[in-house]
Amino acid sequence: MDPRHRVVIITGASAGIGAATARLFAAAGAKLVLAARSREPLERLAATLPGAVAAPTDVSDPAQCRALVELARARHGRVDILINNAGVGLAGPVVELSSDDLERALAVNLFGPLWLMQAVAPLMRAQGRGQIINVSTVLAEQPLPYLGGYAAAKAALERLSETLRMELRGAGVSVTVVRPGSTRTEFRARRLGAGGEQRRLAPPAVPPETVARVILRAARREPLRAYVTVGDRMAIWLARLLPGPVEALLSRAITWEPVAGPALPRPDAPPAQGHGRDNL
Ligand SMILES: NC(=O)c1ccc[n+]([C@@H]2O[C@H](COP(=O)([O-])OP(=O)(O)OC[C@H]3O[C@@H](n4cnc5c(N)ncnc54)[C@H](OP(=O)(O)O)[C@@H]3O)[C@@H](O)[C@H]2O)c1
Repeated sequence: MDPRHRVVIITGASAGIGAATARLFAAAGAKLVLAARSREPLERLAATLPGAVAAPTDVSDPAQCRALVELARARHGRVDILINNAGVGLAGPVVELSSDDLERALAVNLFGPLWLMQAVAPLMRAQGRGQIINVSTVLAEQPLPYLGGYAAAKAALERLSETLRMELRGAGVSVTVVRPGSTRTEFRARRLGAGGEQRRLAPPAVPPETVARVILRAARREPLRAYVTVGDRMAIWLARLLPGPVEALLSRAITWEPVAGPALPRPDAPPAQGHGRDNL
């Protein structure tokens, strides 16, 4: 739908793709409710965008997700578009993934969007119209070595999105998945998972404004799925066509370099207590 005069919730709006999307939707005439954990950058951005309000929210908390939707509804009487953009990366070999890191990645990338979809869907159904846009990644379809925890969280988000879309068929509510590739933001610097670095030839990254334009176009056209670049689309097409050779190529081209850290426990040492950094 055209975002002009529409009530739009954007999560992860304090930085990167979310902030660029907020600027674009504000220019298109949307009434924005901007969410992220950091109050200060959110309020600074909201102050520059007409009709925008900052709503500090941690999407990993279901009560805060419900409160965010309620704030938008109380202020504007409805919610037209939900953009689930907040996300966090997670790097590391699968055999070394800690339950803490994986739970955190799932909390932000999967459960947060789920809590918000559960809060807005009944409202949108009652309105007879609404749109949910979930920001995923190309890795949800073709993971890369050492980014498996992140890819798994986003793949699960995609399956929930597709299922919800079928369940809401006929209710006037659309669900779109946007699959960006490499984007120039602070995402990589903020990601979870310690103990090493993934080494690969980085594909050319696009600026966040390019992803924001794709999200705006997705709002207007309501496709099932949207890619950002022709290269991303081609890479996924190739991975579907030749899965074996593509996996072989990726496993050769991408390596993991452990960084020096605290000494590993001796093999005869007692196992660490608690839930801490256990391997899954
Ligand atoms: N950058 C890429 O290469 C790339 C590629 C494909 C897909 N994506 C996806 O694009 C989306 C945006 O990423 P980005 O590149 O713009 O990353 P970014 O610059 O790191 O921004 C992430 C945003 O999410 C917010 N956030 C993180 N945890 C949150 C939480 N628990 N509750 C609420 N907000 C939270 C952050 O704000 P606070 O820290 O203030 O909460 C920030 O506003 C993510 O879903 C990411 O998976 C990114």
